[in-house]
Amino acid sequence: MENQENKSSRRNFLKTSSLGGIGLSTAFISSTALASQKVKEREIGKLNESSKKLLTLFNLKYPFFQAAPGGSKLAAAIAKAGGMGCVQLTWSSADDSYEWIQELNKETNGNFFANYILHFEPKSIEKLLEAGCRNFQFSWGLPSQEIISKIRNAGGKFGIQVSSRENAVKAVELKPDFLICQGLEAGGHIQATQYNKYALPQVLEVAGEIPVLVSGGISTGEDIRSAIHNGAAGVVMGTRFISTKESNLTDGYRQKLLEAGENSTVYTNCFNQDWNAMHRVLRTSTFLNWEAEGCPLQGNKPGEGEVIGKTPWGGDILRYSGRRPVEGDTGDLESMCMYAGEGVGKIKDIPSAAELIERLWKEFENK
Ligand SMILES: Cc1cc2nc3c(=O)[nH]c(=O)nc-3n(C[C@H](O)[C@H](O)[C@H](O)COP(=O)(O)O)c2cc1C
Repeated sequence: MENQENKSSRRNFLKTSSLGGIGLSTAFISSTALASQKVKEREIGKLNESSKKLLTLFNLKYPFFQAAPGGSKLAAAIAKAGGMGCVQLTWSSADDSYEWIQELNKETNGNFFANYILHFEPKSIEKLLEAGCRNFQFSWGLPSQEIISKIRNAGGKFGIQVSSRENAVKAVELKPDFLICQGLEAGGHIQATQYNKYALPQVLEVAGEIPVLVSGGISTGEDIRSAIHNGAAGVVMGTRFISTKESNLTDGYRQKLLEAGENSTVYTNCFNQDWNAMHRVLRTSTFLNWEAEGCPLQGNKPGEGEVIGKTPWGGDILRYSGRRPVEGDTGDLESMCMYAGEGVGKIKDIPSAAELIERLWKEFENK
């Protein structure tokens, strides 16, 4: 049974979600007394029952999840600081993935999950289970019953990224341990078709007892407070967490994130060389030149097919590749694809993951 506190926090969200992003809006509440009570609640960061359930489920100190990017060094730092780390394994070999999982298990108490984009075949799940990975998360699709059985038989847990009532209903049928609600404000590839202020209430309505985390545009403790007051169990952060000392980005990419303002990102399909899906990126020179020519389709893009850089293992990076600049890449890195969410304008420094987590928690509590 869902307890009263949780129910009422979800109800509050439904009442107030139609204004001001996912932040609560007291303008919606007619009585002044009720409004001031809501403001007080908002000023004090308190976890709801769904957050507490999430913390217990994964033995976490904070309901802060790393999104897919950043690398295993960042995942370890986040897990050690009390959050949930993540490794992005969609395109990695089973052998490399096995090694990373073993390392992470040595360094942490297992507070990390493997992310797979199901638009591509997940090739390393069995190997990961052998390596001792127990948490998985899927986006861009639903895991098959075969995958779910393998995870469950090994005592594992899994989450599914959703973005609407319709896909949340289908995801819930698979009985995941958590849902991630991605909104259009997110950086990287975006399966969402609406902002979180619309998506989250729909997902909460069908999630029942399953904890729902918000993903997209979360950069500060205040953003986290808003999400949790609006019924989310926690938050998933991509852009904020990669803007840290431990992430595997090039220094140039980190610097661009730091310099970006409120209006620096764009939702586009510009970088669709390897995967034709919508994404949110910084307006780098490749995007600006393509836009200046009227956003021509594949086959007619300016500089299409041009090699602009090399991977550490000598592979070509093409101008419209979805590869972002990571440590070891060389070449014209500024014209590569630099993913960022709408919250990038609020990022003012590059702290360590542990410093960031402590700060976000203090901000959340409003201390
Ligand atoms: C650099 C970058 C790479 C990403 N790669 C993946 C990925 O491999 N798999 C995935 O499910 N989501 C990926 N995402 C999306 C994130 O999971 C998440 O939805 C997003 O980062 C949330 O928005 P935010 O960046 O504003 O926090 C990526 C996001 C970024 C910024």
